Amino acid sequence: MLSLRLWFSSLATHSTFSCSSRRSLFLVPPQILNNTLSNSSRNLCCFCVKPIKQNGFFPVASHLQSSSSSSFPKDSPFSGLEDALVSYLFGKKRATDIAHMVWKHVVQKGDTVIDATCGNGFDALEMLNLVADGSHDGYVYALDIQKDALDKTSLLLEESLNSNEKQLVKLFNICHSKMENVVPRNASVRLVAFNLGYLPGGDKDIITRSETTLLALEAAKRILMPGGLISIVVYVGHPGGREELETVESFAARLCVENWICCKLQMLNRSTAPIPIFLYRR
Ligand SMILES: C[S@@+](CC[C@H](N)C(=O)[O-])C[C@H]1O[C@@H](n2cnc3c(N)ncnc32)[C@H](O)[C@@H]1O
Repeated sequence: MLSLRLWFSSLATHSTFSCSSRRSLFLVPPQILNNTLSNSSRNLCCFCVKPIKQNGFFPVASHLQSSSSSSFPKDSPFSGLEDALVSYLFGKKRATDIAHMVWKHVVQKGDTVIDATCGNGFDALEMLNLVADGSHDGYVYALDIQKDALDKTSLLLEESLNSNEKQLVKLFNICHSKMENVVPRNASVRLVAFNLGYLPGGDKDIITRSETTLLALEAAKRILMPGGLISIVVYVGHPGGREELETVESFAARLCVENWICCKLQMLNRSTAPIPIFLYRR
């Protein structure tokens, strides 16, 4: 069997592994969470790390038992992320925090990266901080279908960056399926990030749609360099969200296992929790 099932059946003094299906399932009782979480979060927490491709399985469960006993494969986007994943498991990190941490392990100064849904600009700002440092001028291509979103991103960048840094973020009011029209043909793109759904604080009827999301994923696949990452946070709480998740998953499941590692993180007892998905090109 390929994966592990970890049961914390009582306090940390009593935990066992058993092999089961192709996914890792974690059920953590309140006694353990008591040491870790604020009072408001003391409920049973269920969490699943599921490889989208069979050979893309990462032995997360063994890390949770003892982070020093083994490590993720060196070419895995999760390498070095054990603490972050444990924080996510214990409800201390959001899906977007996890995505940002994974980006940090992949993106280098001077890289070209794409924010395919720039919205309020938080992801674009995070990306800019990863690619630029004065001596290395990386570029962020930030796309959104809504003019409102670009105005918000622009405002955030205005408040947060100096004039040199601002030049490194290129804003485009286009659908992300057209990303190849704006990113230079010779650019080596290390990260394409999608934060799907609607603009928080904006018009909830303007959402990402399965058909264009699929076209955008295909474009991202074409322009991503080896060693690059397609990062997707999927929201399933709004109409069309579940269908979009299925579209993303089936796109990922078709990627060839020799060249791609595809993985999703999913809360099991919060049916509408955002789902981070990572597609790493070896
Ligand atoms: C969850 S928000 C993004 C949040 C953003 N990354 C941030 O850091 O604030 C989703 C965004 O996707 C945008 N969007 C919807 N359809 C799109 C499309 N086809 N192409 C590009 N952006 C799209 C929406 O306008 C919205 O701003």
